[in-house]
Amino acid sequence: MKYALISDIHANLPALDAVLADIDARADIDARADIDAIFHLGDLVGYGPWPNETVDRIAERAIPGIAGNYDSTVATDYKHCGCQYEDPHQEALSHLSYAWTREQVSPATKKFLFTLPFRLDLRPLGGHLAKPSVTLLHGNQVLNTVYVYEQRTDDFLRKFGAGVGAREGDVICFGHTHKAWHRIVDGVHYINTGSVGRPKDGDARAGYVLLAVNTAVISVEIARVTYDVEQTARAIHASTLPNEFADFLRRGGAAATPADQT
Ligand SMILES: [Fe+2]
Repeated sequence: MKYALISDIHANLPALDAVLADIDARADIDARADIDAIFHLGDLVGYGPWPNETVDRIAERAIPGIAGNYDSTVATDYKHCGCQYEDPHQEALSHLSYAWTREQVSPATKKFLFTLPFRLDLRPLGGHLAKPSVTLLHGNQVLNTVYVYEQRTDDFLRKFGAGVGAREGDVICFGHTHKAWHRIVDGVHYINTGSVGRPKDGDARAGYVLLAVNTAVISVEIARVTYDVEQTARAIHASTLPNEFADFLRRGGAAATPADQT
């Protein structure tokens, strides 16, 4: 069973379309590479200029998924997006993005975001077998606002895995930090699926993860796809979103100055 896992699209429609085209092309090139299902791991909206169109695309393609912090806060009219900011300027930009997104989302989009589950548990080999299980989360098993960075200790991940209920051979996938990574601790796979529409690892390309689960083998590929960043940048400039969001995409989220970490 092979899954394409797409996370943190953040209303960046050209990035989403490029990733979907890449997934479709893999199936066309090599039938063995065929992907059985696509799942999203939340944060469909926020920061980018196409929140309604992004949700429409996910709905059109019938891609199941979970609620990121941006999705659940917009859906429930929460006071802020649950995002982390490193300084007052980033905090001000974040509030602008949240207010803009809340103003733009249609009632249908809001309803769609409201219906997203917090967590999905998959059994690629069938529910009649005890494992492996694949759990999809946005943050951690308690909150979709918790950042599971690559720098987290093995002990942190052990507690995370225990909280999920994972056992050796199981897989936990999550997003939220916008940086992809994969680590195995005590036989449990921890996979951060990166970000389609707002990467923060200094690579401007869209990112997603291919996860293949067979009886004995679990394989993970972190994929990157070039998309038309300038198309998104132009749409940001044409909107009332902060122009800095366009530069952020061009830099792949790399800090413009050492003090400008987001
Ligand atoms: Fe996000």
